[in-house]
Amino acid sequence: MKKKIAVFASGFGSNLQAIIDYIGRGSLNGEIALVFSNNKGAYALERAKKHKIQTVCMNTKDFASRKEFDLKIAEILKSEKIDLIVLAGYMLLLSPELVAIFENKIMNIHPALLPSFKGTHSIKDAYKYGVKVTGVTVHFVDKDLDRGPIILQEPVYIDNDDSMESLEEKIHRVEHEIYPKAVEYFCDDRLKIVGRKVKLISD
Ligand code: GRF
Repeated sequence: MKKKIAVFASGFGSNLQAIIDYIGRGSLNGEIALVFSNNKGAYALERAKKHKIQTVCMNTKDFASRKEFDLKIAEILKSEKIDLIVLAGYMLLLSPELVAIFENKIMNIHPALLPSFKGTHSIKDAYKYGVKVTGVTVHFVDKDLDRGPIILQEPVYIDNDDSMESLEEKIHRVEHEIYPKAVEYFCDDRLKIVGRKVKLISD
């Protein structure tokens, strides 16, 4: 049976688009059942609507606490029988409650080679630091920020003539290649978590 995916996005949604396109091209054993956003102005919501994907948008201000906000999300996801949450530029930290309910069923993409350059300005931080190699990480989400077991990593080389903008472009290109792959592996039940390691089971 196809896995049901919820994509969480707060902004532009290019990773959401990459996953939509990947599903459109072929044989991924999953479907995006809904796109969730905390930001009603998120372009990701427009992308979802264009592809007739259900959208849900909620504002944290309408809830007494982040815990209540996340428990409401969990209720919606449960009623939709969601198997996998894909964070794609979702700018809120998940509460421990939501992480526990969907243990090992939440993925995130990070624009650096974790554990280097955690946080929200990773591309700029890596560029300014002067590293020669940075990259992209897809990982499972646990209760600690940017720390869950790593599913895929791909290096991106920083050349002498790279600007911040050209580096950003390179990183996004790689993101759009590897995130759909990671989702595909999950949907094919090929990811096995052993401690901190994620093993890719061969077909
Ligand atoms: C990506 O760079 C991702 O790595 C980070 O947030 C950005 C989201 O971009 N977590 P988009 O909204 O998918 O275009």
